[in-house]
Amino acid sequence: MNKTLTIALSKGRIFKETMPLLEAAGIKALDDPETSRKLILDTNHDNIKLVIIRATDVPVYVQYGAADLGVTGKDVLMEHGGEGLYEMLDLHIAECKLMTAGFADKALPEGQLKVATKFVNCTRDYFAKQGRQIEIIKLYGSMELAPIVGLADIIVDVVQTGSTLKANGLVPLEHMADISSRMIVNSASMKMKHEILGDLLEKIKEAVNKKS
Ligand code: ATP
Ligand code: PRP
Repeated sequence: MNKTLTIALSKGRIFKETMPLLEAAGIKALDDPETSRKLILDTNHDNIKLVIIRATDVPVYVQYGAADLGVTGKDVLMEHGGEGLYEMLDLHIAECKLMTAGFADKALPEGQLKVATKFVNCTRDYFAKQGRQIEIIKLYGSMELAPIVGLADIIVDVVQTGSTLKANGLVPLEHMADISSRMIVNSASMKMKHEILGDLLEKIKEAVNKKS
């Protein structure tokens, strides 16, 4: 039986907030991705490796089995669609909301609305359900700039404290979804490595419950 495990994580808040949970399950990273250029990090277990990738790539690695499991935001997961993987646990970390945002005092156009976002699929689904006509302008970041420079009427982005919106003269408008990070598992790995994965997920679940 293949008992190796590859865990996909992104640098920054996901790594920082996931490691205490993995540590509670007895897994320690031997390098810090903030200071190391390594993309594969060893852990204190010979059979467990961490791969450090972009947040939006985590579901892709897990879908194709390049990683057995990973941690990703629900926003990224909704955008990916969840094919080939199971969403196993809500880790209650990196909590925020997916929202529309724009100017407080500006009337929106009657016809087609221009929406700037990196969450193209979530945005299309949300507005289609409401029967609202939109044009999506795909961006990769700094969405707050788009209404200011006239590129879009509104944006769709994650909001936590609201300070980024406020600093750019925008306000949150519609709440689309509550977001937190999820532990996802490749569907074939779940069958092939059931024992080792089940044990790890159980320990992480205990650590999550202890925190809340
Ligand atoms: P990529 O590098 O692929 O563009 P990213 O920059 O969105 O992704 P992070 O900023 O590390 O990656 O965010 C990871 C996840 O954390 C997001 O998918 C979201 O679920 C959540 N998140 C994003 N911004 C915030 C925030 N300000 N507060 C809390 N959680 C957040
Ligand atoms: C995210 C998001 C917003 C901001 C929202 O950006 O794209 O710009 O966080 O958080 P707030 O409501 O608390 O201001 P990003 O992950 O790039 O920024 P951060 O790491 O500085 O929060």
